[in-house]
Amino acid sequence: MKRYKVAVIEGDGIGREVVPEGIRVLEAAGRAFDISFSWQHFDWSCDRFLKTGHMMPADGLDQLRPFDAIYLGAIGSPGVPDHVSLWGLLIPIRRGFQQYVNLRPCKLLPGIWTPLKNFPPGHIDFCIVRENNEGEYSEAGGRMFRNTSAETVIQETVFTRMGCDRVMRFAFELAMKRNRHVTSATKSNGLVYTMPFWDERFAAIKKEYPDVKTDQYHIDILTAHFVRHPDWFDVVVGSNLFGDILSDLGAGVVGSMGLAPSGNLNPEREFPSMFEPVHGSAPDIAGKHIANPIAQIWSGAMMIRHLGASDAADAIEAAITKILAVSDVRTPDIGGNATTQDLGEAIASQVAAAGSKEAQLRSTAHNQ
Ligand code: NAI
Ligand code: MG
Repeated sequence: MKRYKVAVIEGDGIGREVVPEGIRVLEAAGRAFDISFSWQHFDWSCDRFLKTGHMMPADGLDQLRPFDAIYLGAIGSPGVPDHVSLWGLLIPIRRGFQQYVNLRPCKLLPGIWTPLKNFPPGHIDFCIVRENNEGEYSEAGGRMFRNTSAETVIQETVFTRMGCDRVMRFAFELAMKRNRHVTSATKSNGLVYTMPFWDERFAAIKKEYPDVKTDQYHIDILTAHFVRHPDWFDVVVGSNLFGDILSDLGAGVVGSMGLAPSGNLNPEREFPSMFEPVHGSAPDIAGKHIANPIAQIWSGAMMIRHLGASDAADAIEAAITKILAVSDVRTPDIGGNATTQDLGEAIASQVAAAGSKEAQLRSTAHNQ
């Protein structure tokens, strides 16, 4: 039996509604595939910030360090400035644990309506590899002459050779397992230091992978291509900001924010990786129990795949695909009126049904 120790941070808003569904489905997969989960919940959130002045305790990273993985919902509440909540929890975990890859699959599933006409299921299937530790999201900068007409703000972008090279290599390695095509998101016409450097590193790293086809686009036209030609892409690598923007666009083209999973990966496995949906805490629908839990559930599948249970991860992804294709249990964002829990339960039952077939096959094989 595999045993996984998982730190759970539901966070804020719909994070608290979708995480229990993710756990429900992972538990079902655990029963079917012989995995035992030990979940430890942390109440780190904007509520905690409002009570204590901190999103997480000072030794938060030390507390998370012994876990196999972190399963996160979403962070953010209208009562706390977004940069405070993000920099008080998410970014310290991503950086402290060297989760320098943010992997975000974008796949159009059967039964999902995409706003792009002419793209049937199977025709959009790419991954965004977002640099997750540096880039435009930096603490270098400052604000001067506050509250005067000379008020000045500076925000620096930080690109390092190590940071660019390692995320690009990850993208190429991923492409080698997929369709051997990497696209780089750049803007080396407007940004004269950072992006030409990014292009230089891309040119250097691609030499290590002669079997992989490459191209690069400035981010402005790339957004248009995502909409007009999403079938052109296999793996798209981008800086922190570009990858962030592209991944919501990717979620948009595959039908809903509620369908986009992600993994914040420490590929060397020196630290726990963290799995969370691409979406945020969605205050506009929080408390209504209509959030789509699939992004959270799928992030759970990515988590156990990362931990080595690829059979159980396959079963969860297959259950998501099956339920979307054949069932009318759908949340409002994908055209139904089911609740978050209804959809979570439908996927969990599907995982259990597939798992019991699997178990029967295993025991028949064993008895023969
Ligand atoms: P958001 O992703 O929370 O919501 C954008 C839109 O998508 C909303 O209309 C929302 O209702 C819809 N949506 C999102 N997830 C959905 C789901 N599972 N099912 C159905 N509809 C869904 O982004 P927004 O509004 O920009 O940010 C809200 C808060 O979340 C802010 O405080 C922001 O800072 C935070 N945020 C946190 C993230 C994280 O924890 N990783 C990522 C993005 C935003
Ligand atoms: Mg984002």
